[in-house]
Amino acid sequence: MRHFLHIADYSPEELQYLLDLAVKLKKEWQRGGNRPLLKGKVLGMIFQKPSLRTRVSFDMAMRHLGGDALYLSPDEIGLGKRESVADVARVLSRYVDAIMARTFSHRHILELAQWASVPVINGLTDYNHPCQALADALTIQEHKGRLKGLRVSYVGDGFNVAVSLLHICTKLGAHFTIASPLGYELAPRPVELAQEFARESGSQITLLNDPREAVRDADVVYTDTWTSMGQEAEAEKRRAAFAGYTVNAELLALARPDAIVMHCLPAHRGEEITDEVMDGPQSVVFPQAENRLHAQKAILVHLLAEQPKRTPARATAARGKRTAARRK
Ligand code: CP
Ligand code: NVA
Repeated sequence: MRHFLHIADYSPEELQYLLDLAVKLKKEWQRGGNRPLLKGKVLGMIFQKPSLRTRVSFDMAMRHLGGDALYLSPDEIGLGKRESVADVARVLSRYVDAIMARTFSHRHILELAQWASVPVINGLTDYNHPCQALADALTIQEHKGRLKGLRVSYVGDGFNVAVSLLHICTKLGAHFTIASPLGYELAPRPVELAQEFARESGSQITLLNDPREAVRDADVVYTDTWTSMGQEAEAEKRRAAFAGYTVNAELLALARPDAIVMHCLPAHRGEEITDEVMDGPQSVVFPQAENRLHAQKAILVHLLAEQPKRTPARATAARGKRTAARRK
């Protein structure tokens, strides 16, 4: 059974397949509505942290596709506190058709997936944010026509959103540059993984501590909050560390004139991004937020309606077996 936990778990072909499916479902929705591909299916949504986009876009995605979603708040579930993660996974699997979870610890999403007997979707952890990255790739593809060979520059914290963006860029052949203050850089392991993907795709990865150098000639300038959910006690220290990392008009002027500006949101206007840039002509932050809906429809349809018979990985494996059999 397939989950959607990390961009790293999906091949470039599978990611492109999901992007193509998202485009198809978006067009269908714009023409008047989606087919009820998930009729009768229910998504259980576990949240340990607040959310606007993830909560509403998953709920609406299920409704548009003829299914339903169940919101389970931090107080109700008490994941790992009131009840063990493994027990929650095994109980919930008997009621719902898929689980989407936003957890603090990445270990918890892995544990959910280990024990659930239905597909598990990662709605953000302290390691990554793969649904966001798929929507980001869709947005870049729509505005720039492709990912391959583009220069994507991320300015800010080398945290969850940066990890998934790094992975989708290097899977799909975009060059990825990141500038973070000392002590807030990407962890070594996700960078090593990305280097493997980059060897396949031809992407270049550049790790810097200078935001000006990072955005020079960029096609995409991306930022995220300096203080992520759960880090509120460090807000003041972080504001000091990230001084000079604001994506403002002066910084953006160093990128290509047709560069687009992205932010996963929620934004802290005046900190990591100015009003001028966020509301300016190069900003695509709201179409980007909308694309969460379309990208996640593709994930849901793939996991709930297409498995196992049309999974590209299985098709590839089956093709490999047939070829091997012919050779024998
Ligand atoms: N970008 C994102 O995941 O937003 P929410 O925290 O509002 O879900
Ligand atoms: N880095 C942010 C992303 C929110 C979608 C956080 O973890 O709070």
